[in-house]
Amino acid sequence: MRRKILFLMFTLVFVGHGFAQKFEGLAMTPPMGWNSWNSFQCDGVNETVIKEMADAMAEKGFKEVGYEYIVIDDCWQIGRDDNGYIVVDKEKFPSGIRNLVEYVHSKGLKFGIYSDAGTKTCAGRPGSKGFEMKDAEVYAEWGVDYLKYDWCFTEGQDAKQSYALMRDALHKAGRPIVFSMCEWGENKPWEWAEDVAHLWRTTLDIDMQGRYDGDIWGNHLGWSDIVDLQVGLEKYAGPGHWNDPDMLAVGNNNMPGNEARAHFSLWCMLAAPLMAGNDLRSMSASDHKILTNKALIAVNQDVLGKQGFKIEDFGNFEIWQKPLSNGDMAICFFNRDTTNKTYEVDWSKIKIKDFSGDYKITNLWENEIVGATNRKVTIEIPSRDVVVFRLSK
Ligand code: GLA
Repeated sequence: MRRKILFLMFTLVFVGHGFAQKFEGLAMTPPMGWNSWNSFQCDGVNETVIKEMADAMAEKGFKEVGYEYIVIDDCWQIGRDDNGYIVVDKEKFPSGIRNLVEYVHSKGLKFGIYSDAGTKTCAGRPGSKGFEMKDAEVYAEWGVDYLKYDWCFTEGQDAKQSYALMRDALHKAGRPIVFSMCEWGENKPWEWAEDVAHLWRTTLDIDMQGRYDGDIWGNHLGWSDIVDLQVGLEKYAGPGHWNDPDMLAVGNNNMPGNEARAHFSLWCMLAAPLMAGNDLRSMSASDHKILTNKALIAVNQDVLGKQGFKIEDFGNFEIWQKPLSNGDMAICFFNRDTTNKTYEVDWSKIKIKDFSGDYKITNLWENEIVGATNRKVTIEIPSRDVVVFRLSK
């Protein structure tokens, strides 16, 4: 009898542990990659686009600086077969997904796919509801490395349960897959999703046209409106579990260089996933330079995994801090105004957390050493732009 009880306890603990968990050890720094949605949406996405984007990522210096995942967003799927397995849209993806995964892998990159916790995806394609295990099995078999899981057509569903269901299915299918939740922050996922997913969206969609702020249309927010919504969420992020303020809008609809630089810098400060959403085949030299800035990416990818936070707010001028490993820190001066700003940095007055002693200052966009924090320094921040310093011991 005692042995039976012990066996039962062991089974319960083992099974509980075996299935009710996400894959650990993934996304220890914020995931970096490219996603099809912002540039191609439903109509424009297809096999050629994905292959060419993988080529561009491998050939244009993106892979070297850390970009890794090529993610197909909505519209790769068209129906289900008699056994409930997902059917690929053969018009868009004539060679099938497995071959595409192989192609992406052959470039030394990883492959991401998209589905939805409800009956349909946001673009009306079949969702995973009721087919979670079948879908997870198929993804694992294809060699998928990343799943973005959306929240359309989920009426009456419980978010925690729905996302845990897919987490468990992925785990059971056995292939380590980064799980990216996309329920737009509606159920405050930062409060409960650490055990469920590796990242979770915190807001509705970023404005794909890269509009600045105060300009909200439909379900879309300007990138700086999104920045405002990240305040206070810093304590919920860390290695393996990130707040996701949505994909980058750099390079979409001619976002001006200054705004693109500011947007990218803030995403780096926020330890946000860096998912480019522009056409990597035809981007401008300026967008390329922004997206591949190693010094900024190092801030984003710092192994400490701390999300940056706002330390000063003067209305349309803000200062942000991100703690880095080895006692370093990044400080971002963000001018939201339509006019340029001159600012005298008095290191003894700014409310920097854990600031002690003297630091060397490097201006990360200019790639130059500015001096040390024992003296005041005057900076010029163009309109809707940033100055980002790295302070090192
Ligand atoms: C939702 C998501 C977007 C994108 C589209 C696809 O709006 O938030 O990021 O995936 O669906 O239909």
